[in-house]
Order: sequence, then structure tokens, then C-alpha cells
Amino acid sequence: MLSTEDNDLVTRVGPGTPLGALMRRYWIPVVVASEIAERDGPPIRVRLLGERLVAFRNSEGRVGLLGEFCPHRRVSLFLGRNEECGLRCVYHGWKFDLAGRCVDMPTEPPGSEFKNRIRQVAYPTAELGGVVWAYMGEGDPPPPPRFEWTRLRDDQRVVTRTWQECNWLQALEGGIDSMHASALHTKLTPGSPRAGLSGLWTVPVPLRDEVEVTDYGHAYASIRPMDGGRRWVKVYHYVMPFYTLFPFELGGDGTTLQPIINGHIFVPMDDENTMVFNWIGRYGNDALGETERAALEWSRGRGPGEIDPDHRKLRNRDRHWLIDRTVQKTETYSGIDGINNQDHAVQESMGAIVDRSLEHLGTTDAAVIATRRILLTHLKTARRDDAPPGVAPTYYNIRAIERIVSDGGRWQDTLRALYDPRDTPQR
Ligand code: FES
Ligand SMILES: [Fe+2]
Repeated sequence: MLSTEDNDLVTRVGPGTPLGALMRRYWIPVVVASEIAERDGPPIRVRLLGERLVAFRNSEGRVGLLGEFCPHRRVSLFLGRNEECGLRCVYHGWKFDLAGRCVDMPTEPPGSEFKNRIRQVAYPTAELGGVVWAYMGEGDPPPPPRFEWTRLRDDQRVVTRTWQECNWLQALEGGIDSMHASALHTKLTPGSPRAGLSGLWTVPVPLRDEVEVTDYGHAYASIRPMDGGRRWVKVYHYVMPFYTLFPFELGGDGTTLQPIINGHIFVPMDDENTMVFNWIGRYGNDALGETERAALEWSRGRGPGEIDPDHRKLRNRDRHWLIDRTVQKTETYSGIDGINNQDHAVQESMGAIVDRSLEHLGTTDAAVIATRRILLTHLKTARRDDAPPGVAPTYYNIRAIERIVSDGGRWQDTLRALYDPRDTPQR
């Protein structure tokens, strides 16, 4: 539970808010790079931290991120002409370069200096891991967010994005809450063709979350006791401010190890909307094959026809997430198709910003509590010059992993070399 004041502190991201200022210390995902693959192609509208922006790729292949509304009479630059290294407003033809300079102003007489006094909002961008990122803060940007998945080959990775219609922290906490998978995502009948978890996931065993606070956020283990003194240990990571890495190596059947890594980035569009970047990667040498890629995306509810061009879900709040009560009785726990749709449904159902003063958190909510504590501690105590967790590149080698272990030792001692091989060369 949080007080109303603390709930505001960790949810409000607009200009002038402490959290908005904190988020601006990091690189922020803007779009999937393939959405603006074409030089001088169509610009895309995006909302980040309450700001309306347009992203476009210029004639030289560089990506610009400008304020959406033309400084002349506020027409949207989404309508603009992307040509000859700049974005030109279609209303009267003012043209802006990547840095937001007005480089042409056909409405003023020759020799006019007016255009030199105009500066459109512009943010520096970088491309990494098939994603365009922006730095919206002051001063120099931090080191690039070189997570393991960003360093895989393009054919080993898939990145998509989905609009989630609730506050960013609700969405993030849904990614961190590990216990829910054994209820929300399970199938009632293992043979059902619908997407869902079965096998180990459905065993009704007590589960414990243990959290280890790190210099980038936290690592936490969900531990399920098994027969013969064995334990199923899944190690997750939270990287400040909005990254989750979760394991999928055993796929719930507990027998074969598959080299799959995945996670989300919960990017606040504004206080009540979140753009969730979803990535799946295959480490090692092999590609993530087309069939495998399609099956993974389908299981998460992001298959063909599920997401519209604005990244909104077919199974959205206005349609009651297309919950099927017959399926809920007989086939899946939720009655909603697609694992991510199930996540979005429960989190969106709480309302745009959940009132955390009304919650009753229990023993399996340890990782959620730890996340809030890290955010609040930083928001309340950090000095302006302190580098927040996750800005320094200490997270470059981390991986979410899962193993069935038979020794009785601490999971940190048994598994650290796999989930945080800090001192080994970059993997
Ligand atoms: S409104 Fe954009 S040029 Fe006039
Ligand atoms: Fe989930």
C-alpha cells in the first residue's frame, strides 16, 4: 500500500514532475526502427512523458524526433513533407532539421532573420537493438542501453510494441509480479490449443519471491519447491527505470533448456497510457526461426490481426478484452486469448491509475514492494547530481534465467554466474 502522495510521486510523469525528471536521465525507447526504415518516409506520431512528438528518418538515414506542432500556427508535423534532410510543415512550408532549427521559411521575405529565432523542440536519438531511443534530458546522455538482447543479430530477435491503456507503473508491476502466472496465464486443460501455461506452472505449490537489490535495480527469484528436495528457481531482473527481463528457458515443462530471453520496456506515454516494447531473443549462434518467432508472438497474443496500426489491441478495454466466459469455464483460467492480453486486461481493469492506498499486499508481493521502494527512495532522497540506478552500464551482462536446482544453497550462490556474470567479458 502507498499513501496518495507517494502514489502520485511514482505514477505522474509529465513535465515538471519528479518522476518525469528522473525518467529524462535515461535513454527512452521511441519506436521500433523498422517502422521508420525508409529515408524520407512517413513520419510517426509518438507520445513520451506527456509530450507529443514526431519521429522521422531523414535523407541521410538519421532519425529525428521533433515536437509535433509547428511553431508557426501549431499544425501537426505528422502531416509534413519529409524531404531533403528536414521535415516541412504542409500548412505554409516552414522546414525543420534534426536539431529543430528552422532551415526554410517561405512566408518571410528574402533576407529575413526571423527563422533564426525559431527553435522547435528536438531530442537526440540513437539506434540500438532494432529500436530508436531518445535522450530527453539535460546535458550529455548516459551510456547507450546495451542490454544483451540489443547485441544479438537482427535474425535472433523480434521487437514489437503494444499500447497499454493504463499508467506505466501498473504495467511494470504486472511484469514484475511473478506469482500471477500460475493463475492468470494457466490452461485448465493441458491439451487445449489456446495459448497458456501448463506443466510446472499449474502445480499449486507455495511460491516465494526473494529480492536482491542491485546497483541497477533488483534481481529477484521466484522459488517453487519440487519433489525430492529440488527447487524450480526463476531469476528475473528489474532495471531502472522501466525494464523487466523474465526467464523462459524451460518453457514450463522443466526438461529442455531453450536459449530464449525476453522482456518488456514500459515506456510512459503520459500518466494514463503506456507503450510496452516487447522483445524476444535467442542467444547462442542460431537464428530465431520464422516459425518459432510466429509461435512465440502468437502465444503472447500479438499474432496477425491482434494489434492495429496505432498499436492498440483488438482485445481492448472498450471491448471487455473479448473475454469468453465459456472458454473461461472450460479451457483457460482467464477466458482471454493471448498471454500479454491477459496481462493488459488485469492491469487496465484497475483503472487508469490504481489507488494503491486501498491495496493489501501479501508475502508474494515482495518484488513489487521492492520496486516501489527503489523508486521512492530515489525520488525522495537523490540529489540532482546523483546518477540514478541503471544509468551506469552495470546491467550489460545480466540475463533472466531459470533452473531446477537440487542443492540446498542460496540461489544467489548457485546461479549468480548465470544471471549476473559481472566480471566476465561481455557476452
Ligand atoms: S503552421 Fe506550419 S508553416 Fe504555418
Ligand atoms: Fe503475465
